[in-house]
Amino acid sequence: MKGLILSGGKGTRLYPLTYTSAKQLIPVANKPVLFRVIEAIRDAGITEIGIVVGDTAEEIKAAVGRGGRWNVHITYIHQEKPLGLAHAVKVSRDFLGDERFVMFLGDNVIQGGISELIEQFASSDWNSQVVLTKVAHPELYGVAELDDDGQIKRLVEKPKNPVSNLALVGIYMFDKNIHEAVNNITPSWRGELEITDAIQWLVEHGYKVYPYIHRGWWIDTGKREDLLEANSLVLEELTPVIEGYVDRDSQVDGRVTIEKGAEIINSVIRGPTIIGERTRVVNSYIGPFTSIYHDVLIEDSEIERAIVLEHSVIRDIPARIQDSVIGRHVQLVRSPIKPKAYKLTLGDHSQVGIL
Ligand code: G1P
Repeated sequence: MKGLILSGGKGTRLYPLTYTSAKQLIPVANKPVLFRVIEAIRDAGITEIGIVVGDTAEEIKAAVGRGGRWNVHITYIHQEKPLGLAHAVKVSRDFLGDERFVMFLGDNVIQGGISELIEQFASSDWNSQVVLTKVAHPELYGVAELDDDGQIKRLVEKPKNPVSNLALVGIYMFDKNIHEAVNNITPSWRGELEITDAIQWLVEHGYKVYPYIHRGWWIDTGKREDLLEANSLVLEELTPVIEGYVDRDSQVDGRVTIEKGAEIINSVIRGPTIIGERTRVVNSYIGPFTSIYHDVLIEDSEIERAIVLEHSVIRDIPARIQDSVIGRHVQLVRSPIKPKAYKLTLGDHSQVGIL
């Protein structure tokens, strides 16, 4: 079996972070979401993995490499334009051959991995299996209707009046028949070849399509609030380790991970939280559900439920920073220079909430 990860797309809902960085590389609990996806596929025993890339191809290749670090072999597949998930399958035809495969969206985080699903599909004669989960707003997703014996009866992409609350989570299993399906559908109203329509084509042509109901959490990290939520959930499952330095004046509780070369000086850190490599936290408070990435400096400040990316500096901030995502090389500091005012250099689409 092979793995196919979709890692194209512009990530417009995460601007400005995604002007300069691929959304799949934003870390959740200090590990890029895409790395978590690769690990989930590897842990299910799959070693041949294709990654479909678009505009951010170079950055993704530089971060992921050829897969040796995970003992997998990675092939990059170029998709000229983001023309839909079914289009991504089309451009991957040579890589996939006639093998069965799992397709996984590169910005999704799922609790518990996919090993059980892969085993179920591998030992079945089904032509496709789709992961479904109950959601509060099915109209935002592909939605499934099941028949009495549990087989998929109908799939509709973002229906106005959903027939169930079972949404497609973006993890799909296919055999070679999907290639005929993707060649027989036409673009949807949003101009994309929808994988949902291709699976509906399989259903209509008598192929066996079964659901796999996922009961844990699942998050599509496409928006800021979802990213923070995914970060909190993954942090809660992390096994804490202290590899950095904590001085005697600091208090660090049992659910905190301090990575190599990090230094905690005269500070309070409450978990679940992770402090990245070579990051310094001085005279500060870091509250629960916070991921501070590598080479950051936090001094005389308080921060809680946040993600801070590498090489940023937060110094001497009078109010607590909360529910925030802070990009790379950001300087958030108090300025002694008059006039006493907020002095901002913010990228397009930045969001700042002032007290
Ligand atoms: C895509 C699929 C949709 C699925 C969703 C999961 O939607 O088309 O069926 O429910 O991923 O994240 P998109 O993110 O392209 O709007």
